Amino acid sequence: MSSIRLAIVGLGKIARDQHLQAIAATDGIELVAVASRNAKLDGVHCFTDIDALLASGVEIDAVSLCTPPQGRFEQARAALLAGKHVMLEKPPGATIAEVFALDRLAGQQGRSLYATWHSREAAAVEPARKLLSERKVKSVHVEWKEDVRHWHPGQDWIWEPGGLGVFDPGINALSIVTRIMPESFHLVASDLSFPANRAAPIAADLEFRSAGGLTLTAAFDWRQTGPQTWDIRVETEEGPVVLTHGGSRLFVDGAAQIVEEDREYRNLYKHFVSLVNAGQSDTDFSPLVHVADAFMLGRRHVVETFED
Ligand SMILES: NC(=O)c1ccc[n+]([C@@H]2O[C@H](COP(=O)([O-])OP(=O)(O)OC[C@H]3O[C@@H](n4cnc5c(N)ncnc54)[C@H](OP(=O)(O)O)[C@@H]3O)[C@@H](O)[C@H]2O)c1
Repeated sequence: MSSIRLAIVGLGKIARDQHLQAIAATDGIELVAVASRNAKLDGVHCFTDIDALLASGVEIDAVSLCTPPQGRFEQARAALLAGKHVMLEKPPGATIAEVFALDRLAGQQGRSLYATWHSREAAAVEPARKLLSERKVKSVHVEWKEDVRHWHPGQDWIWEPGGLGVFDPGINALSIVTRIMPESFHLVASDLSFPANRAAPIAADLEFRSAGGLTLTAAFDWRQTGPQTWDIRVETEEGPVVLTHGGSRLFVDGAAQIVEEDREYRNLYKHFVSLVNAGQSDTDFSPLVHVADAFMLGRRHVVETFED
């Protein structure tokens, strides 16, 4: 198979922090172009937007969209209509209907669409999934609490409609829980705290019920300074199964089982290469559905204004 010629769209924080290195470290894919309104990268073709890229004649096979979720649909649609494979940063879009529309379009065009969930690639996730399939789960509690000023400085889009606010990190936790839980679950209560001057929540308290009647709770908060918390605690009849550090560490019955280096984005690109080569897509939108439900069932609380 010849190498997949890839373009990155949206050369911002995550593209620079993770995508560039992961692409360089992955066999079967090479970066040949970038489309970004302001940013440029040495050594590849640079354009200000995806339309200019697609019209340029520069040969690419696929695009990786690293822009904010608002506006992603138009970019993904343009790429698919031009016959390109598409990899989407999380969240895969700004609405539920648009991501299902993209999925259908990818099928019609015979191109691969990959809705990535980088947190699912954290080292503890697959071992936890296997373990929980063999245990009897009693309850689940998620604590996802971080300092928005540290992780998202100056990112105005994240506070706008479609930017998801605290669900931008919270959806990572939901991507793990939807992966490791042996049964499906749905939202039953949602309390959302909106800063008085912002369109997106800074905190969320959620309660879910599983098909079999289990309770799952989640507390997302962007106001945590000091140590950051990205933990998922699953109580089982056989003992606790705890994922910490965003799913990179696993504690089973109180004992550390896995403490591993971060390979999330390398795993994503490896999977994208295999999807393209096999002519397949990978589009599980369930974490985004839960977030949409949280807004749909959400009780709104107005809290202190937020300034960067
Ligand atoms: N930051 C993280 O740690 C992280 C981790 C995992 C996933 N993600 C996901 O990756 C996506 C991008 O996040 P990011 O943190 O990289 O954001 P970011 O730093 O704001 O970068 C996004 C880039 O997209 C381009 N862009 C195009 N249209 C834009 C618009 N209307 N508003 C703002 N920027 C626009 C901008 O580059 P130009 O100005 O050059 O066009 C911008 O630098 C999000 O979906 C996010 O959830 C982020």
